[in-house]
Amino acid sequence: MAAVLVVLAACCTSPEKADLKKMDFFIDDLMEQMTLREKIGQLTLLEGEAYRSAKEGRKEEFIRRVREGEGGSVLDMYGARQVREVQRIAVDQSRLHIPMFFGLDVIHGFSTVFPIPLALACSWDMEAIERSARVAAREATAEGLCWTFSPMVDICHDARWGRIAEGAGEDPYLGSRVAEAMVRGYQGTCLADSTTMMACVKHFGLYGAGEAGREYNTVDMSHWRMYNEYLPPYKAAIDAGAFSMMSSFNTVDGVPATGNYWLLTELLRNEWGFQGFVVSDYASISDMIDHGMGDTAAVAELAIEAGLDLDMCSDAYAHSLEQAVRSGRISMELIDQSCRRILKAKYLLGLFDDPYRYCDTTMAERVVLCPEHRAEARRTAAETFVLLKNQGNLLPLQKKGRIALVGPMADDTLNISGMWSWCARPDQYITLREGLRKAVGSNAEILYARGCNLIYDAATDKKYARKYITRDSRSDKELLNEALSVAARADVIVAAVGECSEMSGEGASMVNIQLPDAQRDLLEALAKTGKPIVMLNFTGRPVVLNWENEHLDAILQVWFAGSETADAVADVLFGDVVPSGKLTTTFPRHVGQYPFSYACYNTGRPQYGDFQRCRTNYLDVENDGLFPFGYGLSYTSFDYSPITMSDTVMNSKGEIVASVTITNTGNYDGCEVVQMYIRDVYGSVVRPVKELKGFERIMLKKGESHTVSFSITEETLKFYNAACQHVAEPGDFVVMIGPNSRDVQQRRFVLN
Ligand code: GLC
Repeated sequence: MAAVLVVLAACCTSPEKADLKKMDFFIDDLMEQMTLREKIGQLTLLEGEAYRSAKEGRKEEFIRRVREGEGGSVLDMYGARQVREVQRIAVDQSRLHIPMFFGLDVIHGFSTVFPIPLALACSWDMEAIERSARVAAREATAEGLCWTFSPMVDICHDARWGRIAEGAGEDPYLGSRVAEAMVRGYQGTCLADSTTMMACVKHFGLYGAGEAGREYNTVDMSHWRMYNEYLPPYKAAIDAGAFSMMSSFNTVDGVPATGNYWLLTELLRNEWGFQGFVVSDYASISDMIDHGMGDTAAVAELAIEAGLDLDMCSDAYAHSLEQAVRSGRISMELIDQSCRRILKAKYLLGLFDDPYRYCDTTMAERVVLCPEHRAEARRTAAETFVLLKNQGNLLPLQKKGRIALVGPMADDTLNISGMWSWCARPDQYITLREGLRKAVGSNAEILYARGCNLIYDAATDKKYARKYITRDSRSDKELLNEALSVAARADVIVAAVGECSEMSGEGASMVNIQLPDAQRDLLEALAKTGKPIVMLNFTGRPVVLNWENEHLDAILQVWFAGSETADAVADVLFGDVVPSGKLTTTFPRHVGQYPFSYACYNTGRPQYGDFQRCRTNYLDVENDGLFPFGYGLSYTSFDYSPITMSDTVMNSKGEIVASVTITNTGNYDGCEVVQMYIRDVYGSVVRPVKELKGFERIMLKKGESHTVSFSITEETLKFYNAACQHVAEPGDFVVMIGPNSRDVQQRRFVLN
């Protein structure tokens, strides 16, 4: 009941019993009038593309299904005018006039595109992340949408998986805070408000733990590990009021998540109290045929019995459920239960009051890509960049002399939006080349050369870049020579390199996670010139940067920063904004270290200090990452005082406050993300060597000091034991505070 009250409270109505009764009465009355086929229609999500299709009969069939109540919602249809058209068919021409709702993957902005979610997380700025979702909702609802398939909260310890780009990284505590912020941003304080939209938490569950980082691969882990490392962000999102969940493609305990009763009913509803609805991932019901779970009828029955309410575009429900009910294999109660959940969502969205609530055709021109949204995206993008190296304080650059800008990402507006940016408007964006020129004006000269293509092999280039990056037809030698001639005339080189946006996201698992060959050769040739080099790394995932870290002067991880990339990069490059981003996923020394998390377990033979055989280590690579979780440099420097503790002994009702004073000892005002980690030294199960349990993002003027205090209570120390009970166990603990997960100070304390 809690979740509905949370959502009702977000629906401009006090969550009184009366409102629940009024809603239930309305839905009961409507369902009494519905036929079985109409109820199954509400459990069917139609593909909006069919309405736009030129293929003979597809549009007509789509309209027939809407008219006859054989579809209750639509994927991938936006534009207030078109949504209004389709809604009018549903409302005016269907027998019971039930409105539809319209969903899309608006996961990091709409047309004002924000940085990819993995980058957003690196801001550690929950208010900015909430605002990014708020802006996305304003623009998406102006274009007829009221449901977004976001936030994606899958924890991932393996950057071979391309969808690491879509989540918040490797840590469940940070991932939970980001999930909450996104839900708040999308759903606001009033879900029925025409500028908010319903969140959909995905992909439930554990999709980020696919074996070997291979897309859609098997997930198999203990419940102990699920509860401690992978489940918290899903729960945080529904506790924040998210009213829909999306099942994932992978298996859990040997059963596909889409048909997994333990996951979708016992855990999600019985244990967590989720009251919303569960939508499948795209055709993931019919995908269970290939999982080997049976034919269409069998997988439809498996899904509806597991608690999967809405069939995304597989039509398994439309084809099979009516017969399953009539033959007695499926109870009518299951159909009613799922239908009720869908109708409840439509009620909470205010669609029964006003089906055209999200179809104001004048709204889009006022809000989409408006200056306020673009300014917000520019500010946020600059906060997501992570300064990994800055030898000799090369950065920030001065706006003077000659700056050589080279690389395949330098003159591009198609990739900067990253994956899942259907509504991006590249024609409205500027390239990095244009942005730097604008930033320096007449004070400096920006020399440009492409330098190379994405990758040498044209066929591989096409496979990786499908549509998002043009290939320069000149020879590799010509391209390189042009870059070297430009570099020869410059005082400093800025190399805009990395992946194309389609090398991360769905269907983009890779085992070689380093700079593509042509780009590495470009950097090696440029390094030989002896000129100082700044690497701007455009990737959707962590990559192996050993060579770059050894040979280049500065490395700025810029991810895919969205529509305002050019201005945001210029802001940081020239010091108008001081970088403050911190990694939320480790950059490894070698892809062979995956799966990898900083919150690892000590093992019985830990590797301390110098290499020793027969300890937990590798012969050929150090255990830690090249750049650790929480790491990120600034243009200024921060000094941390020793930790002071309010006490070193605590009982179960007590609290200990751990404090540090941070001083900006450098020459720039800057932001620091102060992080608190805790180690539970002894436990009934093994406990990580450290876990993030708090952070605070503070702005300090140069010379300024500020004391940050972290409250530690018994709740802070809880974990899931072997029986998956959420407990805190008395004993010794270590609190660690610092600018990242590696460089920390520590103090011990005891829980009695
Ligand atoms: C995709 C993705 C999912 C997305 C859905 C609808 O296959 O797995 O994240 O929301 O289809 O586009």
